[in-house]
Amino acid sequence: MRAQAEPHVHIDDDRFRVTEWRFAPGAETGWHRHGHDYVIVPLTDGSLALDLPEGQKAQASLTQGVPYSRREGVEHNVINASTTAPLAFLEVEVVDDEVAHRRLATMERLMNAFNSRDVDGLMTCMAEDCAFHASAGKEVEGAIHRGRAAVRAAYIAIFETFVEAAWSEGKNVVAGETGLSNWRFVGKTREGHTVDVRGCDIFHFDGDLIALKDSYRKARV
Ligand code: NI
Repeated sequence: MRAQAEPHVHIDDDRFRVTEWRFAPGAETGWHRHGHDYVIVPLTDGSLALDLPEGQKAQASLTQGVPYSRREGVEHNVINASTTAPLAFLEVEVVDDEVAHRRLATMERLMNAFNSRDVDGLMTCMAEDCAFHASAGKEVEGAIHRGRAAVRAAYIAIFETFVEAAWSEGKNVVAGETGLSNWRFVGKTREGHTVDVRGCDIFHFDGDLIALKDSYRKARV
């Protein structure tokens, strides 16, 4: 049994987590997977032994004050290879991707709910104070539907207009408070008219939920 490296969390907010790791000689972190991009800043010189997936092993040298970065997804057990010298480093994780991941999940949930004509499911993606700007309408913004009741009615009207409706080829991006969803819409109206166009939504988020769905569609002529 190796001794455990000791973590001390210095900063843990919605953007960064900074953890100081102190290793006695021969101590290990234990197996872990990095859920975020991160930077290691060695506080001492040292040499690491790394247990990697599938029984692989590696060595790495730490130089005090010389940082390195890694991407999310690294999986390993980190061991102080020295039997005499302690070592320490700061781990700086960028954790604001957690918010972006949750917002991306909301966008996927919304598209799935549209495809299953699930109005309740759609509304669970929308914030308490929400709006929907349709791709067509009298206003500069397209038809404006403000408030949960109005948004719900507008979503129901989409399903009433289109007896068949499928959103596919969805590509979602989140940048800060804004989400962009690019998709292809294929629908058939009650009158038998078929629509097949690319479009996009620009979303504004309130927390993990959608405060504004601002829709755009190609006009085929
Ligand atoms: Ni690690």
